[in-house]
Amino acid sequence: MRTKIRSGSGLDFRRVSRCRVCGTKDLAKVIDLKSTPLANSFLNTPSEKESWFPLEVLYCNGCALLQLSHVVNPNLMFKEYPYRSSSSASMPQHFRELAQLISSEFMASSKQLVVEIGSNDGTLLAALKERGLQVLGIDPAANLARIANERGVETLPQFFDSDMADQIRERRGKAGVIIANNVLAHVDDLHDFMQGATSLLENDGILSVEVPYVGDLNQNVEYDTIYHEHLSYFSVHPISRLFSNFGLRLESVTRLDVHGGSIRVTGRKSRKKDSRIPFMEFEKRCGLNKVETYESLSGRIEYQKEYLKHTLGNLKSKGSMIVGYGAPAKGNTLLNVCEIGPETLDYVIDTTPEKIGKFTPGMHIPIYETERFRKDQPRYCLMLAWNYEKEIVLKERDYTGQFIVPIPSPKVLSQNNRS
Ligand code: TYD
Ligand code: ZN
Repeated sequence: MRTKIRSGSGLDFRRVSRCRVCGTKDLAKVIDLKSTPLANSFLNTPSEKESWFPLEVLYCNGCALLQLSHVVNPNLMFKEYPYRSSSSASMPQHFRELAQLISSEFMASSKQLVVEIGSNDGTLLAALKERGLQVLGIDPAANLARIANERGVETLPQFFDSDMADQIRERRGKAGVIIANNVLAHVDDLHDFMQGATSLLENDGILSVEVPYVGDLNQNVEYDTIYHEHLSYFSVHPISRLFSNFGLRLESVTRLDVHGGSIRVTGRKSRKKDSRIPFMEFEKRCGLNKVETYESLSGRIEYQKEYLKHTLGNLKSKGSMIVGYGAPAKGNTLLNVCEIGPETLDYVIDTTPEKIGKFTPGMHIPIYETERFRKDQPRYCLMLAWNYEKEIVLKERDYTGQFIVPIPSPKVLSQNNRS
């Protein structure tokens, strides 16, 4: 079956030959973004060596899952991780709302254990702990697990798998709720993951996963959300198939306005059958289970890239200063795929301490603190963290230049000096 990339194996990547949900070999290449470096591998110096890996997307004719053709060794991506859940105002707010939902609707009793897989810096679990719940976090990034532990959220700095689930069950008992936000797309061996999660779950327990939604990727041409950490691009269909393989029945699907459009899918073992999910019909109507949809997406991506390059090239030829707002992973796909480098963007700014002073992977653009942008007041600013458009526009209401928002279709926002 699958070749497992184990830590220390010396393998940098493996090629996908079977679908990780349904096992079929009937996979069609639909999108080719050529090669890029790893989107979160920021450089200390512009001359540092970096590895580039093919970034191609396959469509599964068996279950409609989109997945990358190359799986990079997770040890190269997740052992040190610069992304912080608390790096924007909207994500902690999102987590506070989820904490409310978990304690009021998911939990049968406050004595139950809540396990979060991919718990990052412990933002969600801290909110749950404040409500008096028992919590345990798991995150392979040692830097993040340390931050979470320091704030009092017990966090194991490891990759979650079925062996680990056995150990947690022996030590802490089963969990009433398991949360996996923005982690399923990162997991290569989904079957082992689901085996672990369902064996750790109480019979009446609930598994809640949040994933970026392929419906939004398709509709808004969010090609920048394609990078090596995101192995899978989910619609509800393959998730329901995966859940049912492990005895979980769908309980709910909710659309969320985070990460450019996501879905939260919950499942329970004790349900007799899936609840009716209108999404499945919606997905059929939108063609999310047809290969042609993604072939056409590939054409729309090409158009979008050219449009952005042309827009920036035009502004630059008039001598305008352009900088980038945010250094998200997705921004690095966009910059590398469109080949936008320091000749176009003087610098990018970011609030994450781990990114400041470094250089973007591939394009080697320097990353500075936000203050620099506020002082320089550049004529144009490419909003690489476009998923926080509202938050950023509000925060930077004194900015006298103009934001360029690259997704869904490049647009220059009107002058920003609102009263
Ligand atoms: P995000 O889009 O959440 O994630 P990904 O890396 O998965 O694409 O990352 C947003 C980045 O933008 C993060 O590095 C923090 C940065 N940021 C700012 O610098 N200032 C801001 O006001 C906001 C909202 C984000
Ligand atoms: Zn499949």
